[in-house]
Amino acid sequence: MNCGRFVQRATTLSRSFASKQQQTLRATNTKLNTSSSQLNIKVASVSSIKCNNMPKFTPININISTPNLLNSSNNNSLLVVAKRNILSNPLGLLEIAVSASSVKQFGGVEQLIIGQIAKPVPKKNELLVRVKAFAINRADILQRLGKYPPPAGESEILGLEMSGVVESVDSEHSGKFKVGDKVYALVGGGAYGQFCTVDASNALHVPDHLNFEKAAAIPEAWLTAYQAMYLVGNYKRGNTVMVHAAASGVGTALIQLAKEAGAPIIIGTAGSDEKTKIIKELGCTNTINYKNTPSFATEVESITSKRGVDNVFDYVGANYWNDNMKSLALDGTMVIQGTLSGPVVKENAIIGTILQKRLTIRGSTLRSRSTEYKADLIDRFDQHCTNLFANGTLKPIIDRVFNVDEIQEAHKFMEGNHNIGKIVVRGFDD
Ligand SMILES: NC(=O)c1ccc[n+]([C@@H]2O[C@H](COP(=O)([O-])OP(=O)(O)OC[C@H]3O[C@@H](n4cnc5c(N)ncnc54)[C@H](OP(=O)(O)O)[C@@H]3O)[C@@H](O)[C@H]2O)c1
Repeated sequence: MNCGRFVQRATTLSRSFASKQQQTLRATNTKLNTSSSQLNIKVASVSSIKCNNMPKFTPININISTPNLLNSSNNNSLLVVAKRNILSNPLGLLEIAVSASSVKQFGGVEQLIIGQIAKPVPKKNELLVRVKAFAINRADILQRLGKYPPPAGESEILGLEMSGVVESVDSEHSGKFKVGDKVYALVGGGAYGQFCTVDASNALHVPDHLNFEKAAAIPEAWLTAYQAMYLVGNYKRGNTVMVHAAASGVGTALIQLAKEAGAPIIIGTAGSDEKTKIIKELGCTNTINYKNTPSFATEVESITSKRGVDNVFDYVGANYWNDNMKSLALDGTMVIQGTLSGPVVKENAIIGTILQKRLTIRGSTLRSRSTEYKADLIDRFDQHCTNLFANGTLKPIIDRVFNVDEIQEAHKFMEGNHNIGKIVVRGFDD
């Protein structure tokens, strides 16, 4: 059974309430005209129904009209996710997990369900793409947990990177793309859908040397790494570097970019010997299994003969702050793009070193950047790296490819810190 069909004409919903904040909607098929609605269907119109006193699991029918959906200014929205048990539901019911008041109600992998949603409608400059593969990111887990709401205007559906086939184009503004083209793209959300809208300037053609799975593994990790090195991190050819969480999707990209850029020392930190072995094969000159090492700063001191490294690329945050300060060389730069161990240094944070070593410390995100910024980044990356992927200098590292109905397992795998490189998921049609 194809469980990924989107409801393209609206829907009659029957609903039950677990609490005021968290609700489960049961959608029974498709009557309502939502031909112009977006993925992030607003539920404010639904909330006008007196529902708070409803006994659990009392179904009611709610007709939602398109104008109501579109006019809602309420932040409440549907996150379409869902359970596999709907796949075998003979009535074709589907469940949609809803946070009616706050995304904080989202939670564990059990919240990931497969449901039906309105087909996304491309805006000006956008392509509609049938998704063939998408990749998982830490941001998806945070979003699922309710800790990382999508930026305003972006799809509520999870997913930041995908590859697929162009279904329709904005004929005036779709640039170099036409229907049927294979593309891969960075998106602000929506990549977990059967279809995804993509700004044409944030997409690239899938070259012959990449299949859909490899292409889907590139945008978020590699553009984050490229941004860190060249746009944010002041990387200069010949600089020495240290990459934390080096076996991650982003880390495996950074190591390769640093090697390609001629970095004479590339130190990678990771949490197992299996990971340190692979990051060495990818280009690390030195590796540190941080679980066996009381202080990576001591190791860095020894590796660099007390000089320190010019660039630190950090994703771990709080726990690494002091050792990072000790590990940076004079005039060194640290880019912080993640805080996996937390955002607050609990005690004795060293800051004098910032002055003494004249350090530059910069943070960056990618998702919240403007479409224009991303287009420029993608253009630079394309010019610098596409040929390097073609000749094998660079390669997307994929740990595992899941089917879409294994989405819960895919998230668990990442949350367990098991992956080396990227986790990719095949689209609904594959
Ligand atoms: N700012 C941006 O624009 C941006 C964009 C994309 C990603 N990111 C960030 O980049 C980082 C990597 O993302 P990803 O999707 O590539 O991740 P990933 O593939 O899931 O890898 C993350 C790895 O980090 C390590 N880790 C987790 N918690 C840790 C801790 N407390 N201390 C030390 N190491 C820890 C684990 O490996 P070990 O076994 O080695 O511990 C884990 O496998 C994340 O922080 C993510 O949020 C930022």
